[in-house]
Amino acid sequence: MNYSICLMPGDGIGPEIVTQAVRVLDLVGRKFGHTFTYTNVLAGGAAIDAVGEPMPDATVQACKESDAVLLGAVGGPKWDNLPRHLRAETGLLKIRKELNCFANFRPATLFPQLASASYLRPDIVAKGLDVLVVRELTGCVYFGQPKGIVEENGERMGFNTMRYTESEVRRIAKVAFEAARKRGKRLCSVDKANVLDVSQLWRDVVIEVHKDYQDVELSHMYVDNAAMQLVRDPSQFDVIVTGNLFGDILSDAAAAITGSIGMLPSASVGESGPGIYEPIHGSAPDIAGQDKANPLATILSVAMMLRFALGLEAEAAVIEQAVSAVLDKGLRTGDIYNSAQPGLTLVGCTAMGDAVVDALG
Ligand code: IPM
Ligand code: MG
Repeated sequence: MNYSICLMPGDGIGPEIVTQAVRVLDLVGRKFGHTFTYTNVLAGGAAIDAVGEPMPDATVQACKESDAVLLGAVGGPKWDNLPRHLRAETGLLKIRKELNCFANFRPATLFPQLASASYLRPDIVAKGLDVLVVRELTGCVYFGQPKGIVEENGERMGFNTMRYTESEVRRIAKVAFEAARKRGKRLCSVDKANVLDVSQLWRDVVIEVHKDYQDVELSHMYVDNAAMQLVRDPSQFDVIVTGNLFGDILSDAAAAITGSIGMLPSASVGESGPGIYEPIHGSAPDIAGQDKANPLATILSVAMMLRFALGLEAEAAVIEQAVSAVLDKGLRTGDIYNSAQPGLTLVGCTAMGDAVVDALG
């Protein structure tokens, strides 16, 4: 089969990690008889520099015509002080919205080889870290109108609107119940229904959707408590579903407890059309261009892309096994290196890519 992939390397370490991920994808293609045709597109700061906006329409169009989008990372200090409509983040929100990628899967799992990298106590880690955060991605306070900064009673006033329609909640709830059904069959819906009307509606609709998923156990948690529970006892969670803002915060917390944010992939998908696959870490401008970045999260995002977008389960699995084999060998980029642990070798981005390619055979 021939698949067309949009590559959006972006900024900072983005180009380096995408380069390694593409090597892996090409090799898997050769082994399994698939051809991947790539279109390189501009996004983020790279697009601002080249054409004056962070998500050009030409990029959006190319993405819409592809089978999947592989994104490195966007943004950096060089573009941080531009007006909001020109910021890299605004470009990211635009492509999510344009592709209608309303469901963001952020699995926070710990490779056993990296257990010592976790910030949590060993007895907590021993219980396992395997949480899937399903974050709603195209609604909430991120997109709600009205918003702005206005003059009120002689001073400036800033405001945004947190809003969800019933149908927006229903569709993300369905996606989350489906995901839970394929895993541990437990779904925790996180909201702030004790204070926010929008959260009360969220909770009511999730309870309605649950009627069609009686085989999945549903619980509810307030977001403040959820943040605490994620750190205190993450093993209690299987799948978490939550809104855009709470999901932004909780998915970082879930990632951090694994201690290896450089390892975690993500997928953003809609009901149809191409999804966006990307590492959950950012553009790390401090180490950009130094061959120090960890390409494994991007390589694992390629695995998610093969599985979710192209239905290529066996191909996804060999990549995940290759990554695990490389960790078994003790190879570590700086972010997952522990000088106190014997038997580890510190490697750069390219060498890590080489190792995964070697492991794929
Ligand atoms: C993320 C990021 C983005 C978000 C930013 C860069 C716009 O934090 O993907 O979690 O808030 O969604
Ligand atoms: Mg975030």
